[in-house]
Parts: sequence; C-alpha cells; structure tokens
Amino acid sequence: MDRRILAIQERGKQVPSRDLIKTPAQIAGIRKAGELNTAVLDCVEERIRAGMSTLEIDKLVYDYTTKHGGTPAPLGYEGFPNSCCTSVNDVVCHGVPSAFDVLQEGDIINVDCTTILGGYYADASRMFVIGGETEPRWQELVDVAWQCLKAGEEVCREPYVFVGDVGNAIAKLAHKHHFSVVRDLCGHGVGLQFHEPPDVEHYGHRGTGMLLVPGMTFTIEPMINMGHWEVCIDADDPTGWTVLTADDEPSAQWEHTYLMTENGVEIITH
Ligand code: MF3
Ligand code: CO
Ligand code: CO
Repeated sequence: MDRRILAIQERGKQVPSRDLIKTPAQIAGIRKAGELNTAVLDCVEERIRAGMSTLEIDKLVYDYTTKHGGTPAPLGYEGFPNSCCTSVNDVVCHGVPSAFDVLQEGDIINVDCTTILGGYYADASRMFVIGGETEPRWQELVDVAWQCLKAGEEVCREPYVFVGDVGNAIAKLAHKHHFSVVRDLCGHGVGLQFHEPPDVEHYGHRGTGMLLVPGMTFTIEPMINMGHWEVCIDADDPTGWTVLTADDEPSAQWEHTYLMTENGVEIITH
C-alpha cells in the first residue's frame, strides 16, 4: 500500500501522513465511540418535538452520553458551552443550545453530536422537521442535503479517490436543485482527535485535496443553503460560535463518520 501511495504522491497529489491511517485497535475504539454517538442521536430522535427548547435537547445528549460512559466532545471545546450543536432554520451550524430557543412546528433543525469514548471520537448529525411537516421547498432542502451526503459517500465506494472528487459530486447535486454549498466550513478527519486532517470540502475539483486510503476515518457533512452560500457569525451570540446564513435563508446538513476500507467507505455512525 505504501508504494501505491508514494507513486500517487510523486504525481504531485496530496497524500495522508502515516498517523492518519488508523491501526485495527484504533478503528475498534472509533467504532465503539460511533455506536454510542448513534445511540445518543437515536435518543434525541425519539424525544424531539414542538415546544421543546434546544437546551432540553442538550440535556438529553449530556445525560445519555455520560450515563453510558462517554463524554460529549463539544462541551468546553474551544469555549463551546454545551454538549451538542442545535442549528435551527437559518443557523448553518454550531448553534448553541438555549432555554429561549423553543422548537415550533415547521422548524428544521440539525442536531450535531460528537462522542468521546475510551479516548476515541465519532461525529454525526441529523436533520429533524419539527411536527413532521414544513414548506415543500424547505423539505426539499433537507432531502437534497441528505442526498448530497449520499453522493459524497457514493464517490467513496472505492479507496484512492480524492477529497475533491467528493466535494465535486456534492456541489453538482446541490446546484442541480438550485441550492448552494457552504464553503467556509468543511468535513474533517476524526477519530484520535475531534478535528484532524484532511479538510473535506463539499465543493471543488476532482483530483484535488487529499487522497483517501484504507484506514482513514473522516466525516462528510455538507451544509446546503437555500439561498447564497455566504455565512456570517451571529453578533447576538456572546460565545461567537453560531454560524448563520448571510441572507437569512434556511440551511440543512447531515453528517456521518466514515472509515475508508479496501472495499470503499463504511459508515461508522450508523
Ligand atoms: N460537530 C461539529 C463538526 O461536525 C463541530 C462542532 S464544534 C463545537 O465538526 F464546539 F461547536 F461543538
Ligand atoms: Co464534523
Ligand atoms: Co459534527
């Protein structure tokens, strides 16, 4: 495998350093973190409803994670005050849970959880349509964001593809539906730390970015906007974390952690 990677590097391509290729023991640990992270999101999915505040969701995540021996990675991460991100409507990502943020029917929300278990990390997020129904174009946004994740995954059905191949497929699909792709935030390597190389951009050119080889663990997490791709930081959030669409139009995102294998990617956060 090393020789194959070196040959690709000699063609001027970006290849992973050794430490980004996980050992079987590390992969086993990341899988366990993934299982707990999935259970946390299932717990949220079961209980989320209109009238609930995003802080109540945060409490569910904290309680479930710690009860099962895990630690919510966001808590205290670079000043983030809570255990998960709750991003409603025009919040693109990194929404800070709040008692004043009460969910209403027709809202679309992304709940993003990252779990540390035994020192290993797994990261995933899901969209929820509160009350089960929203405007048709908003529902389309939620659905296309999901299809964008699947399109990225599909590119990774075999190893030795590039991050740029993933981003290119995602952006093509988003644009076909006249949506835009957020450029300022990206997916990432994950597993031994919260955020590792490579950056996994959700747009770009084929053959660019890092080569994805067996043993790498990383996220794909496209943020798809109904309007323009530009984002801004919420000036009303004292933590400085909340990312909004610049044009106040809604945004949707889904995320999984993946393991690249000899036979393509496997979802670690199923
Ligand atoms: N889970 C987010 C991601 O997908 C990162 C959140 S950082 C936090 O990369 F501090 F806001 F939690
Ligand atoms: Co992530
Ligand atoms: Co995440």
